[in-house]
Amino acid sequence: MTDYKYDFVNVRVRDGIAWAALNRPEKRNAMSPALHYEMDDALARLEVDDAVKVVVVTGEGGNFSAGQDLKKFFRELERDPAERKKAAAAANRWRWERLYGYDKPTIAMVHGYCVGGAFMQLLACDFAIAAENATFSLSEVNWGILPGALVSKAVADTVLPRHALYYACLGEPFDGKEAARIGMVNYAVPPDKLEAATIELAEKLMKKSAAVLRATKQAIRHVRTMDVAQAYDYLAEKGKAIKVADKEDSYNTGMRQFLDEKSYKPTFEPFRLATVDQRSKPAAKK
Ligand code: ACO
Repeated sequence: MTDYKYDFVNVRVRDGIAWAALNRPEKRNAMSPALHYEMDDALARLEVDDAVKVVVVTGEGGNFSAGQDLKKFFRELERDPAERKKAAAAANRWRWERLYGYDKPTIAMVHGYCVGGAFMQLLACDFAIAAENATFSLSEVNWGILPGALVSKAVADTVLPRHALYYACLGEPFDGKEAARIGMVNYAVPPDKLEAATIELAEKLMKKSAAVLRATKQAIRHVRTMDVAQAYDYLAEKGKAIKVADKEDSYNTGMRQFLDEKSYKPTFEPFRLATVDQRSKPAAKK
């Protein structure tokens, strides 16, 4: 099993789920440059680790993250533009580019504080589950800055404009239930059920074909900025691409199980993934 050892990130891989947790609990997981470099490295490695099917992004010590480290990321780097550029590149890469286009499904598990720059990883993950008593805040307006990097865009792309303007302009905190109501997370659960709810979602995702899931999440993300003609074309080509890349031969497997074996109903459950022997087995004549 791959060994992930870091100072400010804690990675555990168990039963197909990688728990990638920011690990500066005494600073409420505020994100320093060193933490960004480690998280960038961890996510790159987890993406190609065969033992990992789903990645959960969270924080140790009962908090998701108090945002960028105001001392180490902002104030101390003001005098060092070269290091600031390098740290910002790593920060943006893992919190957005990597997670947004990640090959595997990602879940943000939010407890405690989720503030400012932490909205990047919150919204780049494919799914988000919060504890009902989690505290969210776009606090930037209270620091004399705006929600930078891509936070403003990610928020504006996720929730209705009224909610985005309200919470970004006022910086008022809101809880997990409100985050679910406005669509900032998928759902909120009692704090003692948070981990179990996250595992339940991860297990559902692991029952799907990895290739089809990857293509589906990319499709949902990318069609947003396409016009209708582009979307038709892109989705047709993406559909063909799955058939080439799909080790589980999902299309034929699903067809066979529904039409020939009559062994499942796709409306309610996933098909059983094909084994090597079953791949492209010709359909039985009926
Ligand atoms: N940057 C740097 N240090 C931080 C940050 C941060 N974002 N958040 C917390 N810390 C530090 C505190 O300075 C404190 O350090 P110390 O023990 O050396 O004094 C330690 O973490 C604990 O913080 P407290 O404030 O004592 O903890 P508390 O639980 O009372 O409050 C809270 C937590 C509400 C998160 C508070 O720390 C806070 O408001 N932090 C700022 C959050 C914020 O606005 N982040 C956005 C930054 S801007 C951006 O991300 C783009």
